[in-house]
Amino acid sequence: MAFRLAAGADAQPMIEVTLDGAPCQARATWTVADLLLAAGVTPYRRSAVSGAARAPFCMMGSCFDCLVTIDGVPDSQGCLRRLAPGMRIERQAGPA
Ligand code: FES
Repeated sequence: MAFRLAAGADAQPMIEVTLDGAPCQARATWTVADLLLAAGVTPYRRSAVSGAARAPFCMMGSCFDCLVTIDGVPDSQGCLRRLAPGMRIERQAGPA
């Protein structure tokens, strides 16, 4: 699946976060899920039960397919968390 930025998105300020320990530039208005989808990170996470690859689906807090560890807190819904400068994001693989 391909994503493209909405008109005017280039004018939004950039911030730096870390994704799996690596520095990463992102738009300040993005959510964590926006960042991972825009960066083309796959798999986004792995299921705790079967290990199957998962990715954000609803983008509104209903499906829980966007779980990541944010600033050391596992099972955070990436679609509901706006990025913040210095935020540490780690993908999850299996149980938290
Ligand atoms: S994408 Fe469905 S809860 Fe986040």
